[in-house]
Amino acid sequence: MCRQQSILQEGFLLYQNDKHHFTRNHNGIINMGTSENKLCYDLLSKRLMQADMLHMDPALLEYPDWKGHSFLREEVASFLTEYCKAPSPLEAENVVVMNGCSSLFSSIAAVTCDPGDAILVPTPFYGAIREDVALYSGVRLVHTHLDCQPGGGDDRPFLLTVEKLEKSMEQAKAEGVRVRAVIFVNPHNPLGEIYSAEEMTAFLEFAKRNELHAIVDEVYMLSVFDESASFQSVLSFDRLPDVQRTHVMWGMSKDFAAAGLRMGVVYSQNQDFVLALAQLAFCHGIPGPSQHQVAQLLRDRDWVSREFLPQNRARMEAAHRYVSGALRGLGIPYLHRSSGFYIWADFRKALSEQSFLAERKLWQCFIRHKVLVSPGEAFSCATPGWFRIIFTDQEERLQLGMQRLRKALEELGRVSGQGAENGDEKAGLQSTADEAEPKRDGHGPLRPPPPSPPALPPHWLMRISSHWTSRPLSPPLAPPWTL
Ligand SMILES: Cc1ncc(COP(=O)(O)O)c(C=O)c1O
Repeated sequence: MCRQQSILQEGFLLYQNDKHHFTRNHNGIINMGTSENKLCYDLLSKRLMQADMLHMDPALLEYPDWKGHSFLREEVASFLTEYCKAPSPLEAENVVVMNGCSSLFSSIAAVTCDPGDAILVPTPFYGAIREDVALYSGVRLVHTHLDCQPGGGDDRPFLLTVEKLEKSMEQAKAEGVRVRAVIFVNPHNPLGEIYSAEEMTAFLEFAKRNELHAIVDEVYMLSVFDESASFQSVLSFDRLPDVQRTHVMWGMSKDFAAAGLRMGVVYSQNQDFVLALAQLAFCHGIPGPSQHQVAQLLRDRDWVSREFLPQNRARMEAAHRYVSGALRGLGIPYLHRSSGFYIWADFRKALSEQSFLAERKLWQCFIRHKVLVSPGEAFSCATPGWFRIIFTDQEERLQLGMQRLRKALEELGRVSGQGAENGDEKAGLQSTADEAEPKRDGHGPLRPPPPSPPALPPHWLMRISSHWTSRPLSPPLAPPWTL
């Protein structure tokens, strides 16, 4: 097992053995490391308890079509047609359903590559992919490292360009590595970046030129919480540069806040690819009754569009506002983005030295303070000191988590909260000392913190926490910046 992924696993295991619980284990670990959305259990459980979910057709108890029951694949095709704004109806025969996108990554690597082949991926990236693609066929990853320093006249840190992709392809070829595919995650995990249609088209043209399968992971496509930001699925394109080699992934874990349902799909017009995946789907099925439930959820557009998505977005927005405000209060710069469950934050000034060893020590220090976040090394980030912080959780837990982060930084003597330091200016970061909350333009530079955090939105406490806690709310904890 490679080191990078084991950091995530190590943290997750520590959390599993010592989960925070408000009454049963208050000193347990707060998990701000695993990319889950815990803001909507009330909406989901209410919907999943309705009568139409309790259905037991004999077919649901029989062996299914391995790539998913046709009723579910039809529902997925129809759902993606609508929510991806496809120019013409998507076809059920192009859909393969498996128990999560991780299974899809393993299976797609096995059907597009031979053992020892490689898949190109820009870094930082969602680190579990490394193990997923290695699982069945020993496929490895080749990196396009993105720099946290904006450069070349552009103000976007971690900017992905075709030139950078081409360069890594050339290097791989020079080293005799056969690259068969490239992965694009949009909206991006962990950056929260949304690539425009023009950018995605350029990336797909690059894949075509190099005869690469393009695996486009859009699992966060509906998790864009700022209305002014827009995401465009590649399934909405009138024309794809290489339709036979473009495969789009989506699932229930993120956009439906239901990682436990274990449902991932891939849409591809390449029937050889679909058939090959169907063989592996034999090991990755979802139980029939769960397929029924998922189909019912997807079919209920009224609930999805009028209830679930708007409430989910509002809650995400409030939670993001809270955690980003707390980070500014700590003097920690971060990428201000509008999608995903996470904030990509720059803790470089908290490192004892600029090394991954120091980053690991900081991560361990956070865990000693009972808060789990994910260090940049787990995402193959080229520069030490970056951490991914999940904000999609109950407000009370976020408060406690941010208090614990603050305590850890205080112990190290690394809390400034006074805006950008000289080091930031040298790194080409802009000062926003006069901004109450940085603009979320989706592509802006890294924002150093203004001097004081925004007030905690009072309505949010009621809106989120009371939805699914049956016990009365405890008095709000002191916001972290008043510790
Ligand atoms: C970008 C991305 N793709 C895929 C996955 C895996 O999703 P699933 O729960 O469907 O296996 C994740 C999970 O964090 C993710 O962030």
